This record gives sequence, structure tokens and C-alpha cells, in this order.
Amino acid sequence: MCGIVGYIGEKECTGILLDSLSKLEYRGYDSAGIAVFDKHDKTIKTIKAKGRLKDLEKKMKGEDRLYGCCGIGHTRWATHGEPSDINSHPHGNARVTIVHNGIIENYKKLKEFLESKGYVFESQTDTETVAKLLDYYYDGENPIECIKNVINEIEGSYALGILFKDYPDTIYAIRKDSPLIVGKGKGEAFIASDVPAILKFTKNYYLLDEDEIAVLDRSGAKFYTKFGELITKELITADFDEESAAKGGYEHFMLKEIHEQPNAIKMTVTPRVTNGMPDFSECGLTEKMLSGYKRIFVIACGTAMHAGTVGKYVIERLARVPVTVDLASEFRYRNPILNKEDLVILVSQSGETADTLAALRLAKNVGAATMSIVNVKGSSIARESDIVVYTHAGPEISVASTKAYMVQIAVFYLLAFQLAYIKKTISKDECKRLVSVMLKVPDIIENVLELSDTCSYVASKLVNSENLLYIGRGLDYALSMEGSLKLKEISYIHSEAYAAGELKHGTISLVTDQMPVIAVATQRELFDKTVSNVKEVKARGAKVILITHKCMSVDEEAADYVIKLPTIDDMLMPMIGVVPLQLIAYYASVLRGNDVDKPRNLAKSVTVE
Ligand code: F6R
Repeated sequence: MCGIVGYIGEKECTGILLDSLSKLEYRGYDSAGIAVFDKHDKTIKTIKAKGRLKDLEKKMKGEDRLYGCCGIGHTRWATHGEPSDINSHPHGNARVTIVHNGIIENYKKLKEFLESKGYVFESQTDTETVAKLLDYYYDGENPIECIKNVINEIEGSYALGILFKDYPDTIYAIRKDSPLIVGKGKGEAFIASDVPAILKFTKNYYLLDEDEIAVLDRSGAKFYTKFGELITKELITADFDEESAAKGGYEHFMLKEIHEQPNAIKMTVTPRVTNGMPDFSECGLTEKMLSGYKRIFVIACGTAMHAGTVGKYVIERLARVPVTVDLASEFRYRNPILNKEDLVILVSQSGETADTLAALRLAKNVGAATMSIVNVKGSSIARESDIVVYTHAGPEISVASTKAYMVQIAVFYLLAFQLAYIKKTISKDECKRLVSVMLKVPDIIENVLELSDTCSYVASKLVNSENLLYIGRGLDYALSMEGSLKLKEISYIHSEAYAAGELKHGTISLVTDQMPVIAVATQRELFDKTVSNVKEVKARGAKVILITHKCMSVDEEAADYVIKLPTIDDMLMPMIGVVPLQLIAYYASVLRGNDVDKPRNLAKSVTVE
């Protein structure tokens, strides 16, 4: 939700800010803007525009370009106030100018107070309140004192980049519940909401912690607590480079990321296998701990929740430990019954999703053990969990998640194998066998990726539909949920996932020749039952796409198109079966002419409730 950047150094900063913002557009693209200290008259000059970064660039060509070596920038996902020039960031005045990611929850109260002091507001944003509050407290001499006062008054989430008129070679930054990193180069320093934004310039960065204040100048950065005490922080080096965060010859990030899945699995699984057995000890998760948990709760949002649903099926089936899967936004408000013997697993690619973070805090408050499965190193969820299992998918840029889902389910499989072995519901040999099958999955996926043309053809048959159903049973239902979300979020075709056996309890009345059905049938013991449901929808005119194993013989009448997948253990089929679902969604989006990587109204990292 919004991306912020900042640069101070020897170079002209406009190009650097725009380049960094281009790496953060996945966080929101309702508007963009930058503010720069003019190097001639040392005043803060701002330019901003509704729309994408390219609209800002167009506007900049028409107006005076900004010249200076210190500036901040913003790409917006609108929360308070519609997307418009006036609501775009940066906000502020000639004395203090800011960019903000997050939500100021008490902005109305603060606004009333500021209006009573004579301030006049231009925008409908919560951010303008912070800009004006900083101005109110700024005495022209002491920015840190001013920031301390403001931190005491604002409630909600924020990552802020701040320019003070009297400090033309300095950027101030603070954060709470919204991510922010501070990059360090030679004679230059950066702020950014995410690491890929600075990789072109440096791989070295600091993670700003909750309520810390950063002061950046050409010599690097100094850090203070919210009480103004100087602190030292560890400099981290990113373990991926700019190239791995770029498109690498693919037309879209999503396609590149789909193709990166085999490698992402290897990177995530290999370090967690010792002598053929699952081993999470490097993450601090021991067999003793695992044997003690009586119940497991998996909490996540969207695609990550779908990964958790696969986890539930597999853990329950193999280890016989009860697993409840909750949407983080619901979990928080349903007064869940948790206790100290429960393990709460938070799943998140970004590690910053506000609802998932809040659910983690709730679980910790009641004393439950918490473990997160997170992709972004050092993110809030990772830092606050008792145990972190990092997925090693590398940066996921496309808003629609693909490789992150894949590695999340890979972790759940390994966890289920280990838990089942510890609980003695499977033997050591069986555990080793399952692990060895999993290690073959990356190669199998390489073969499945060759079905791209078939998936593109299938997508061309669906692309004019307005509605679509996904059906499946058991793990195939979990998979259908993900296939459906993928399709709707990037192609804008409305779709629903249904447990195949549930159709006849209402939804089948929607089925006509205008309602294509994608049936997922990779679970052999449920195959005949799913095929019966397929026949039911076919009899009502639906065009059917059936996704199943190569080894299953399918009655020619049953489906219009059949996608046949390589055969491995049924339990592991979601890792194989999700690939054609991702590809169908991808090609449907391309064929509809949509912006695949940046679907409308969405953002990659959802740091608001
Ligand atoms: C869909 C998608 C979202 C995310 C969800 C959670 O393709 O990416 O549904 O899965 O917003 O995000 P994270 O995993 O960052 O917590």
C-alpha cells in the first residue's frame, strides 16, 4: 500500500527517485509524486500527478524539471481521498514536506485541532494532517524534537520520509507498522519501502525498526529511538541483485515468476532436508517443540490463505493434528479460542500484511506459539514471530502471487511430513520417500511449464466469458480456490471456486452454456466423484476444462478440453496442478489486454486493514 523512496547524495536525484519508484509501483499506482530540494535556491519543489509513474514523467516533461541532490518520492494506493492530483503525495508546504505509507487513524481529531490553529487543508488525505502537524511542531531548528512530538500524537501505521526546509541535505524518516529500509551507498543514502527499489544503487541497507527515527545525509544514516537516543544498527547485504528483481526477458513479471517456481522450490526445500528427512532446526523449530502442539491455526490472507488450506489438508491427513485455517481479517475479530499449547502459523509473502500482523500480535498476547512462513527477510511479521521459516522465492513483483504460493505450500508439505513422523503416523521410510518425491517436483514443474501453449489456447476459449466456476474435491478444492482468485484478480472475469459436491446445493442453478467450468481432478480416489459432477454441469450446457493426471482415462464426452499433468503422489499434486491454473489466468489477462502485473485496484503489500 503505497511505496516511498528518498535519495541524498552527489547525484541528480530526480532520475534516481523515478527509477526507485518504478520498482515500487506494484505497491500502488493511483498517483505518483516527488519533492526535491532545488539546488539553486534550496527550496523544496514538488511535482505530482494522478495516475501511473509514466503520467508523472509526462507531466515533468511539460513543466520545469526539478534539479537537486536530495529528494523524496511516492507511489500511491489510495485509502483516504480519491486518486487525484491534489490527494497525491508529497504533502506539505515550504517548511516541511512528506511522503507517507500507512494510515493515520486519528487524523480527524488531529485535523480539527490543526484547523483550530488556523491550518487550512487542501486534500482529503490523512497524510496532510501529519505534514501540518510536523509544521506545527517545527521550530526551525530541531527536526528530531519535532518528530518526537508528532510520534506521540499520531496513531495508526506510517512510514514517512520528511524534508525540513532548513536542512537541505538531510532526509528524516520514521516508521511504525509500515515497512521502511535505509540504503547506504558511497557518499549517498536512500530510503525505500522495499529492497528492490535501491538495488540498482546499493545492496547494503538497514532495517528501520518500530518507532525508530533515521537521519540520512551524504555520510550515511544515523538512527535514534523515539526518545531521541542514538542507536547503532546492523548493516545488511541483500542476497539478490537487481537482475533477479527485473523481468529478465519475460513479457511480464508474473510469467517470469511462474517460470522461477522450480528454482524457488529448490532454494526453499533443500536447506530444510538433512539426510533425506525434513529438518527445520536452522529456523529454531525442533522436534520437541513440534511434538508438543495440540492444535494448529493457520492465519493468512488471499493466496497465502489458500496455501494454508493446502497445508491443512496435508497436515490433517498425514499427521492427524487438527488445523484451523482463518482469514486474518476475520480471525482478529472473532475472539478466537487459543491457548499456550496451540501453534499459530502466519503465512505471508510480504510479511507486512496488516491483518496478518495484527493476528500474530493477538496470538502472542494469549501466549500461543507463533511461527511465520514469510518471503521478505526482516519484514514485520518475520521479526515479531517466535519462529520464522523463510521461503526463498526471491522478490515477487507481480501483484498476483505465484511463486510465493508455491514455496508456501512446499514448506507446509515438509512440515506435515516431519510432524507426521514425530507423531508416528508415518514411518521414517515413508517420510523419506515423501521428501524424495518432493525433491523431484521442480523437474516435473519444468515439464508442466511446457503446457504453456495449451493453457494459452484454453484461456482463449474462456476469455469472452463474464463468469466462470472452478470445481474440485479435497485438495483439488483448495487448488480451485487459488485458480479462481488468480483468474479474477488479473483477468477481471468473475469466478468462484466450489467444492464439486456442493454445487447441487444451490450454485448449479447458475450453470448454463454461458458458464464455463474448470474442473480440477488430480485426486485419484475422488476422480470418479468429480467426473460425475463434471457430467452434471456438462449436461446443463457448460463448457468444461478438465485438469487431471496423464494416467487417468477420461471419457471423451466428459470435457471439452483436457489438460493432462504428469503423475506423482496425489498428495503433492497441488504443486503441479497450480501451474496450469496460473498460466490460464495469465493468458486470459494478456488476451483481455489487461495490465497483468498491476491489476486495477490492487496493491502487492496490503499494509492497511
Ligand atoms: C493474490 C495475492 C494476495 C496476497 C494477500 C496476502 O495473488 O497476492 O491475495 O496473497 O494479499 O499477501 P501477503 O502474502 O503478502 O501477506
